[in-house]
Amino acid sequence: CCRGNSMPGCAEEKSMSFLKRTHAVNRLNTACEGKEVVLNGWVHRLRDHGPFIFVNLRDRSGLVQCVVPEGSDEKLFAQVRALKSEYCIAVRGKVVLRPQQMRNERMASGKIEVHIEECQVLGISETPPFVIEDETTKAKEDLRLKYRYLDLRSGAMQHNIQLRHQVTMAVRNYLDNLGFWEIETPILIRSTPEGARDFVVPSRIYPGQFFALPQSPQLYKQILMASGMEKYFQIARCFRDEDPRGDRQPEFTQIDIEMSFVDREDVLDMTEGLMRHIFKEVKNIDLPVPFVRLSYHEAMNTYGLDKPDLRFEMKLFNVADLVQKSDFDVMKQALAQEGYAAKGLILSGEADDFSRKKASELEDMAKKAGLSGLAWMKYTAQGLEGGASKFFTTHLDELKKLGLQEGDVLLLAAGPWQKTCTALGNIRQKYGQEKGLCDTETFSFCWVLDFPLFEFNEEAKEWTAAHHMFTMPQKEFLETMESDPGAVLGDLYDLVLNGYELASGSIRIHDPQLQKRVFNIVGYSEEAAQDRFGFLLESFQYGAPPHGGIAPGLDRLVMLMCGQQTIREVIAFPKNTQGVAPLEGAPGEIDELQWHELQLKRIIQKTLNTGG
Ligand code: AMO
Repeated sequence: CCRGNSMPGCAEEKSMSFLKRTHAVNRLNTACEGKEVVLNGWVHRLRDHGPFIFVNLRDRSGLVQCVVPEGSDEKLFAQVRALKSEYCIAVRGKVVLRPQQMRNERMASGKIEVHIEECQVLGISETPPFVIEDETTKAKEDLRLKYRYLDLRSGAMQHNIQLRHQVTMAVRNYLDNLGFWEIETPILIRSTPEGARDFVVPSRIYPGQFFALPQSPQLYKQILMASGMEKYFQIARCFRDEDPRGDRQPEFTQIDIEMSFVDREDVLDMTEGLMRHIFKEVKNIDLPVPFVRLSYHEAMNTYGLDKPDLRFEMKLFNVADLVQKSDFDVMKQALAQEGYAAKGLILSGEADDFSRKKASELEDMAKKAGLSGLAWMKYTAQGLEGGASKFFTTHLDELKKLGLQEGDVLLLAAGPWQKTCTALGNIRQKYGQEKGLCDTETFSFCWVLDFPLFEFNEEAKEWTAAHHMFTMPQKEFLETMESDPGAVLGDLYDLVLNGYELASGSIRIHDPQLQKRVFNIVGYSEEAAQDRFGFLLESFQYGAPPHGGIAPGLDRLVMLMCGQQTIREVIAFPKNTQGVAPLEGAPGEIDELQWHELQLKRIIQKTLNTGG
């Protein structure tokens, strides 16, 4: 239109014109010497040194030092002196090599600076509630989340969000190359059975009825296989009404994958290839394949957890024989019960620092895992000492054969097998972290296979599905499934990375008759199953292909790749530890009209108002 013209109709265009960037900061280097450049970004730091004023300008690619050189126009000095942190600015100037002694090796652009000739303020800023750092901002997390738009300006957050983008792109490229199609599935659905609580959404058109938000696209991806799509993936948003934790958010993202005409090996192969591709593309790391494989039983027995951290050794070992031979009667009695185990764990080199306080801390951990206690002893120059040592003094040689060395502490636990393993597994993990054995730049993947298909819920006194109800039982258990559900292993696999469950998946049941038997075992009547998943079962009556899939958690993957401790650091707008979004204040009230339209009544409010 009438660029540069001051006709009244053009006021808007004029107010929007600004010096447009010629270079992102990371494109500036010594080869640009003498060039005129325009930069757009934010005032990171301002330093007024009298005859010079330095402005560190930041854009998402990095930082560069700009300077109003001595002898510049007074107006320019005044203008730049008036800048404040986080003002959004445009700067036009010349790239100049910094004198050798003024170079900043820690700054990517540290060999040059830009001599400002013109400066425009594009957006003024209030004083920010915290300083935007190159690294993670040091402010309290809730303050960071309330002002997330400022927090996201920090170098660390920009790095995390960029890396997340790179991972997503690598996933898309890899799967597209293998012939997968990215297909969206609905968000407003009937509830999916992933074992967590649903978030529900009231229907306005059908008062009293509710949609659920998907806990995962599980049913839809299986129906897509029945629909002949053969290879599906989706960067899928999932919603689970659970209490948040470091590695858990009420809404999160899965790399959701399903394939037809495959067996377990095909899914594991594809997943290893996917992880290799992501790590190569994004971090230039060659992951060794195949990944280590452990059965669930082996993982528990050896590392005490079904998500073992393989960055360090420290294996649990069986001490049942030794305990039987000792005078340690309490443990011997425990061992006499069916399904009970006695296991040991060595804390190497800990004898000198091992206090009673430390022992009781570890005992509390064992109790949390459901054991009645934890026995310990030290092996020093004087021999076995402290705790339960008196029961084992004549067995030192056998303990040495199990790996005990002078200066070590030995922990012993006995109780139901799973609880015993878990108690020592948790201690192993904590010890590994405290002793710096968990290097965040080491990536130790492993598969955990052969999980039990069913778990017995002691409270409800019923069998439940360990993963979900659509998982295929392993062939050899098909005949005895009803008579001994606890023994059935599923065609199930978890991918574990550095002690985190990164992905879960399984080969699915595609035979409606077999599916009915599984529903029966977990106490789903035919009507209930029909009511909830009738559409899936029906789709399987029209020639369903054998199929299976997996779903790596994108947030957990990116968290580990960024060396972060929580997934909140890799999600642009996460909920806080209380499940609340401090930025916009969600969850929040809805207005009267919405209550009315949805034909809902405020029972909670009423109860509170009447003090009930
Ligand atoms: P599952 O429930 O094991 O399996 O989830 C798969 C992966 O998703 C991630 N994940 C989470 N990440 C962040 N916050 C959460 N609350 C959360 N819950 C799960 C984890 C986990 O390994 N439909 C099946 C997959 C399949 O069988 O194909 C499923 O959802 O990384």
